[in-house]
Amino acid sequence: MPHDLASGAKPAGACALVIFGAAGDLTKRLVVPALYNLACAKLLPEEFAVIGFDLADHTDQSWHEELLQMLQQFVKGPANNGALHPDVWDWLTSRMSYLKGDLTDQASYQALKQKLAEVDQQRHTGGNYLFYLAIADRFFGTTVEQLGQSGLAKEANGNWRRVVIEKPFGHDLASAKALNHQILKVLDESQIYRIDHFLGKETVQNIMLFRFANGLFEPLWNRDRIDHVQITVAETVGVEKRGSFYEKTGALRDMVPNHVFQLVSMTAMEAPNSFSADAVRSEKAKVIEAIKICSKQDVSCHAVRGQYGPGEIDGQHVPGYREEVNVAPDSNVETYAAMRLSIENWRWAGVPFYIRTGKRLARRKTQIAIRFKEIPAALLRDIKIDQPVPNWLLLRIQPDEGIAFEFGAKVPGPRMRVGDVRMDFKYEDYFGTAPATGYETLIYDVMAGDATLFQRADNIEAGWSVVQPVLDVWNSEPPQNFPNYAAGSQGPAAADEMLAKEGRAWRPIN
Ligand code: BG6
Repeated sequence: MPHDLASGAKPAGACALVIFGAAGDLTKRLVVPALYNLACAKLLPEEFAVIGFDLADHTDQSWHEELLQMLQQFVKGPANNGALHPDVWDWLTSRMSYLKGDLTDQASYQALKQKLAEVDQQRHTGGNYLFYLAIADRFFGTTVEQLGQSGLAKEANGNWRRVVIEKPFGHDLASAKALNHQILKVLDESQIYRIDHFLGKETVQNIMLFRFANGLFEPLWNRDRIDHVQITVAETVGVEKRGSFYEKTGALRDMVPNHVFQLVSMTAMEAPNSFSADAVRSEKAKVIEAIKICSKQDVSCHAVRGQYGPGEIDGQHVPGYREEVNVAPDSNVETYAAMRLSIENWRWAGVPFYIRTGKRLARRKTQIAIRFKEIPAALLRDIKIDQPVPNWLLLRIQPDEGIAFEFGAKVPGPRMRVGDVRMDFKYEDYFGTAPATGYETLIYDVMAGDATLFQRADNIEAGWSVVQPVLDVWNSEPPQNFPNYAAGSQGPAAADEMLAKEGRAWRPIN
């Protein structure tokens, strides 16, 4: 049975949503499909309106048509039975209007203000406004400033004004700090919702629940019982059509201080005092703040970069990174990054967290693998075990979402022999699948004023602080051997060596 997205939740309160970047890819691929799913689940209020703001020429009608085209592709999946519900789409589009505007021009914000006042009248949205910045990051600061100047960011008479900011939030520590400084002049921290879409994934949210709602695991979750942790975010896609973005970004910036560190902090955090937004975010920030910042001299031992060359994925030949559209033929941008992190706190001292992420790897796989310590081998000296049986707990984030535990069991027969076995739980078997982009929960939470799944300024800055020395060294020392892994492979050999010198090995990406 597919589980119900709503599962007992009530519709959000009255509000108007303004989407800046309404004609862009993110709006079409994620924001609007998520609104559609929320509407299907009856989680949007009757008193609801959407204003699409963009520089592109559109009428309400032509905007709706463009959105519908993408939505139709999106609902083709089995979770929706391949069908769009026209009544839901009509309900939604009757509330969606388009406003052509320029993000840098105050007159456009005045027009927006006027339109919002009309919408308040028609739809009784109560002066509660959610501004969604689905725009290029260079406009984040300006847009917030313009909202401030127009008076639209000011909360008064019990209404709320919230701003959702997409990734990338800064491109290094200094720019992230500067952006925080700029927007915090206009907005209070409680009005800012910095999105990391990994937190919209059910399986990521489940890490915390799994740890803190089950008595079994927490006593084992520390340096006494855990040998090391491996976090993998492997993709098979290349840079797709995003060559020019990726040339300025690279794998480290694109994935590590944000998505990968979300997984690190969920895995390593202490139990929060409550599940309130600030309690959870404070515990998460503490983990990232406890990561040892590596000196520039240590970067080469603790971080590995790679770039894919041509290769084969699923039997298809794929080009190397340097042959991709809008990529320089001698580009030194990394498409793979791995790091060894030391979390210097009481729980984790001495337990390395190895992280890796890359494009064009052997398989798409996001997984947290926890390796438990081995038994004292002498106790089993009379039993023939070629190798001690490793105990692994595997949290599979995507695809094939689930949790597995690998341990040793007696091989049937007269001799005492140990074999590796596996207990496996698959989400799908228990809860089915619900149509979801991962943005539903996030958008619903902003409407409800719940910031638990969003990044606070200190979470963001802590993440950048850890990767900054690596960025600095990589920028100043061009790699000598790019491309250094073939598309479809396990990544660069240097990443294997980083673990091998500590007597460990990555789990294969398969
Ligand atoms: C984005 C990155 O934030 O996350 C992409 O910019 C990456 O490069 C994507 O492919 C991965 O997200 P998901 O949800 O597909 O795992």
